[in-house]
Amino acid sequence: MFGRERIEYKTPEQVLLMRRAGLVVAEALAAVRERAAAGVTTGELDAVAAEVIGDRHATPSFLGYHGYPASLCVSVNDEVVHGIPGPRVLEPGDVVSVDCGAIVEGWHGDSAITLVLDGAAPEDVALAETTERAMWAGIAALAGAERLGAVGEAVEDVVDAAAVEGLNGGQRYGLVEEYVGHGIGTAMHQPPDVPNFRSRDRGPRVRAGLCVAVEPMVVRGQRFTQVLDDDWTVVTGDGSRASHWEHTVAVLDDGIWVLTAPDGGAEKLAALGVSIAPLA
Ligand code: MF3
Ligand code: CO
Repeated sequence: MFGRERIEYKTPEQVLLMRRAGLVVAEALAAVRERAAAGVTTGELDAVAAEVIGDRHATPSFLGYHGYPASLCVSVNDEVVHGIPGPRVLEPGDVVSVDCGAIVEGWHGDSAITLVLDGAAPEDVALAETTERAMWAGIAALAGAERLGAVGEAVEDVVDAAAVEGLNGGQRYGLVEEYVGHGIGTAMHQPPDVPNFRSRDRGPRVRAGLCVAVEPMVVRGQRFTQVLDDDWTVVTGDGSRASHWEHTVAVLDDGIWVLTAPDGGAEKLAALGVSIAPLA
């Protein structure tokens, strides 16, 4: 999508502004996590996020983006991404992917989580856990990578291994290819693309100032997707359930920092043998 367009490398000062946006997103998602339960509408979750973003004097990045009508994307069950919040009432066992973006002083943060409501099938819990693990593996790979393609390799390896371990009831997982991660900074979507799969293209060099959103989408069936008549909601072609996780990550001189994680990703990355860069 972005081909060989120019990458916006950020200064450490700009990364600090992006962290402010990232922490607003983290706070909004934490509030949504608290509220999400069977009986709650997806529109109520949107209102919760909008309130946090407003309280922090930040701007929701999704609202008005190509005409998008909400502050969150809430994608339930077979919805992969870009589900529009509204009157839909959540049910026990639903798999709910929540994506949020905010702007502070012109700088963007973008992050998504998958919530699995009480009463879910163990395979649906495993789907969300596998996707989260794949995201962290992709982020960890960025820390030591020469080329950005290392992210997709790490993501794909985790997803394939999880299926082999039997986490999807003996079936392979599908790894969505039509939507990818992206550079982020003064706009939500910038070059370069960050694919979630192995590719012959090793991608651009990873160097200080690169800021990207790493966002794998994993489904329990086939990887193919369709867009609903609302022109936004992306669903699986086979009706299987989907999970989406995302963090905004900065590459600094001495390593990486996860801008949408309150601890910079320290805890999750330590478990993968990666320590985060000092961020002033
Ligand atoms: N945040 C999504 C992404 O991860 C994009 C949201 S599309 C919007 O790239 F229209 F809702 F803004
Ligand atoms: Co994104």
